Amino acid sequence: MLPLELVKYKKNSQKIIALTAWDCITGSLAEESGADIVLVGDSLAMVCLGYKSTLPVTLDNMIHHTNAVSRGFTKSIEDQPLLVCDMPFLTYQCGEDKAVEYAGKIIKNTYAKAVKIEGAEPEIQNVISRLIRMGIPVMGHLGLTPQNYLNLGLRKQGEKLESQEKIKRDAVALEKLGCFSLVLEHIPEILAVEIKTLLKIPTIGIGAGNSCDGQIRVTADLLGLNEKQPPFCQPMIEGKKLLGKKLKEWVASERLN
Ligand code: KIV
Repeated sequence: MLPLELVKYKKNSQKIIALTAWDCITGSLAEESGADIVLVGDSLAMVCLGYKSTLPVTLDNMIHHTNAVSRGFTKSIEDQPLLVCDMPFLTYQCGEDKAVEYAGKIIKNTYAKAVKIEGAEPEIQNVISRLIRMGIPVMGHLGLTPQNYLNLGLRKQGEKLESQEKIKRDAVALEKLGCFSLVLEHIPEILAVEIKTLLKIPTIGIGAGNSCDGQIRVTADLLGLNEKQPPFCQPMIEGKKLLGKKLKEWVASERLN
């Protein structure tokens, strides 16, 4: 699927489902699940590389993991989910030329068909506009933007009127620039509904209620693989406990043999 095809989902009121993946196994699980989009999110910094935030993850890390994810896909190219790769911290905050070079590296060296960029500050808008004009599709990301956690923390955004107005203005600006979809993270549902109504491009929510055009989840959160869960995602299974218990049982049984 090409990024521009997502608009059809919204027109036809067809819900978009997206999962993150970070390696061959999670890529294969996400494809098998029938998800429409697989995002190689920079959350892999925490869920796979053991960092405390997304800031340390590098462009090379993202390319390496995006290639591992696509090696997990087994369907024909047309039937594969849309693969999107996050642009990590400092690959798009240092000017348009660098951003084109780095996003270009992702597109040239992986099967990702789009990049995701957090925020909509004026400099970021210039970058997004340039990338799109240069042929690189961009998924926007507003609300809680973890790459800005040193300034804003990891709390819910859009609780005050001023912040709500800014998020709405930013959302409209991102659509105007040509973003093909927009992730809304950890904002009040009522704000997500307003943004969904304002935009023609699909909104994809995480911690933004159930009314967006689609939903995205960090797969490790759904499977309960992390030590810490975000407040807006209940695990479907206690994956870490379950797998840990099974491995302990195996080790104990081997000791007896
Ligand atoms: O990095 C990530 O996994 C993300 C999702 C939370 C949307 O950006």
